[in-house]
Amino acid sequence: MSLGCAVFASGNGSNFQALINRKEAGDLDVDFKLFIGNNSKAGSFEIARKEGIKAVHMAPSHYKTEKEYNAKLMNILDGENIELIILAGYMKKLPSELVHKFRHRIVNIHPGLLPAFGGKGMYGSKVHQAVLDYGAKVTGITVHFVDEQYDHGPVILQKTVNVEDTDDVNSLAKRVLVVEHDNYWKAIKAIAQKKITIEGRRVFCNV
Ligand code: GAR
Repeated sequence: MSLGCAVFASGNGSNFQALINRKEAGDLDVDFKLFIGNNSKAGSFEIARKEGIKAVHMAPSHYKTEKEYNAKLMNILDGENIELIILAGYMKKLPSELVHKFRHRIVNIHPGLLPAFGGKGMYGSKVHQAVLDYGAKVTGITVHFVDEQYDHGPVILQKTVNVEDTDDVNSLAKRVLVVEHDNYWKAIKAIAQKKITIEGRRVFCNV
């Protein structure tokens, strides 16, 4: 049985599309059962619709209280028997009860080498701008499990990308994104194949 996955995304969804492509190529045996987006006009929403994946718009502002929003989200996930939550450019913090319930079953991709250039407010092009402003010579990607803190859970895989003298935010973002697309699926495949062991913060896998 394929691993039942929910994908959460806020933006363009190129990572979401890259995962779908890997599944279609036969490299990744997962079942994308559900898509959750907080922006119904985003490209990621379109991708879910095009692929016939059940897409639910969940915007916290549509709920009277945070408790109500959290309960609805938990309810939707329970209804679909979700085993793994994949964050693919999802810019909202997850409710802590969700993180608790899905311990080591939520993965995120970050466009930098954590713990550098991460944390609250560090997402998308802000990460690349911070890398350039700092003058770092190397950046990259991090795939990690999600815990209660921003960009903090155990690291599953990291890949480096050199920062060139000629780089600006756009050129760096472009190269990093390609590395994201080439690698996120590998971490998810290792989870789906139960090839991951976790000891404290250390994650061992054949990626
Ligand atoms: C990706 O670069 C992803 O690493 C980043 O958002 C982008 C989404 O692009 N995520 C974060 O910054 C999370 N902290 P996409 O919508 O084209 O996949």
